[in-house]
Amino acid sequence: MLCTKLPWLAIVATWLAFSAQANPFPTGGGLDRYPRRTIAGVSVIDTPLKCIMRCWLLGTLMLQHNNTLQSIVDPEVHAIASILHDLDFDRSPNSTIFTLDHRFEVDGAIAARNFIRAHRHGNQWEERRVQLVWDAIALHGEDKIALFKEPEVAAVTKSVALDFSGPALGVTAAEYAAVMGAFPQDNFKASVIETTTWLCRTKPETTYETFLQPYGERFVPGYSAVGHRAIDLVLGMSSG
Ligand SMILES: *[C@@H]1O[C@H](CO)[C@@H](O)[C@H](O)[C@H]1NC(C)=O
Ligand SMILES: *[C@@H]1O[C@H](CO)[C@@H](O)[C@H](O)[C@H]1NC(C)=O
Repeated sequence: MLCTKLPWLAIVATWLAFSAQANPFPTGGGLDRYPRRTIAGVSVIDTPLKCIMRCWLLGTLMLQHNNTLQSIVDPEVHAIASILHDLDFDRSPNSTIFTLDHRFEVDGAIAARNFIRAHRHGNQWEERRVQLVWDAIALHGEDKIALFKEPEVAAVTKSVALDFSGPALGVTAAEYAAVMGAFPQDNFKASVIETTTWLCRTKPETTYETFLQPYGERFVPGYSAVGHRAIDLVLGMSSG
């Protein structure tokens, strides 16, 4: 089943391999410090790979089960956005991706744009496709907006959700199990909590009133959105 996807796997694996070799992020991009594995004869990073590979493959299955989506979603935009959607989880000391004042989705979107523009194929992309990748990554944590955007933007958000939901959106239980077998969800719940709380600790201002806020409230001592929410602005107004 997965064999039918190998050509795409090779293309995107080549993109990833390129990122580790030519390193379009000048210093501290960090992609080359990860353990590596070989897919379709191409050596690619392994650690953060499992989650993004599941996202991309589950999303691809979703598209293949839906003729409408298959005819309107640009598969390369979907692939690149799915695979690059979590670039801000780069914790190397001098990361050129991570900033303290952007939501992680925005840092990821900017880094993905830089990656595409620095890539020998990506630099041929028309701006609209790069914009779709940017929007898909920037909005993947805001499904109430993303699901009503362009088909690629909606598809990436659904692809990310599939990793959490189990078989859905046309993806069969057998297909789901095959993806989980190839890229297992080792300690997935714990690692989601670890990553979300790291963001809440490290750049709390970017997490208030986002899906991250409940993780901060539940798991990070001293974390409080009070005073930082839109309602606080309204309650603070002097006019009745
Ligand atoms: C295909 O996807 C579209 C857009 O998300 C949705 O409206 C439609 O119900 C889907 N069709 C099937 C057969 O799942
Ligand atoms: C990060 O930057 C600082 C200051 O420029 C430098 O001293 C340090 O060696 C860098 N660390 C790494 C891991 O590159």
